[in-house]
Amino acid sequence: MASRTADDAEPPTATFSREYFDRRYTQDPDPWGLATKWYERRKYALTIASLPRARYRNCFEPGCAIGELTRLLAPRCARLLAVDFAEGALEQARSAVREFEHVEVKRSKLPEQLPSDRYDLIVVSEILYYFSSEDLNLMLDGLVDRLDTGGDLVTIHCRASDRRHGYDGFNVHCSIDARRELERLVHHEDEDFVLDVFRRWDGSGHGESAHPAS
Ligand SMILES: C[S@@+](CC[C@H](N)C(=O)[O-])C[C@H]1O[C@@H](n2cnc3c(N)ncnc32)[C@H](O)[C@@H]1O
Repeated sequence: MASRTADDAEPPTATFSREYFDRRYTQDPDPWGLATKWYERRKYALTIASLPRARYRNCFEPGCAIGELTRLLAPRCARLLAVDFAEGALEQARSAVREFEHVEVKRSKLPEQLPSDRYDLIVVSEILYYFSSEDLNLMLDGLVDRLDTGGDLVTIHCRASDRRHGYDGFNVHCSIDARRELERLVHHEDEDFVLDVFRRWDGSGHGESAHPAS
């Protein structure tokens, strides 16, 4: 794989619009092949296997799309809020989790409409590279604020090993890793994607080795 640096590509100058995603869902109800591609099956299996704890109290999943990952997260959580802003996605997501009464699927535009609750698990899959630098910072601030001390942030994004796509999961995950409140527990990187598990530490000393004071 090509060697990389955190700033070897720039985020989009403007956050991708709702109209862009609405168009994608109008053209194809599953524009990324989330329900069919091996890449997605493997990504979901690895994501679920990487959750450090067997059970979570309250989970937030931004950008849930058609609910494929939501459906797999549901049995691990007492409550789960999954949000997306594309109507074509939400209908399918609601249908994917209809057997789970503890799962709520809601329309929200991010980062403006982040929920007010707190979570012990936040799972962010393939959404952060659609944000401008400013909105990415707002998203990360908002997610960290809503994560319990000791809570887990699990995140996974496509990584373009041949650099065809410019800004990608590698760059996004470097931005997350720069957050002082988060300690990285797991890092997986291969030619397809990068997956990280971060834990919000309590500032008492645990985690300082990962983020020494400068
Ligand atoms: C590539 S799909 C994510 C797939 C899903 N998380 C997964 O891994 O199965 C990106 C999703 O994020 C949603 N999305 C993108 N930007 C968003 C925003 N600013 N607010 C809410 N949803 C957004 C899109 O509508 C789309 O369904």
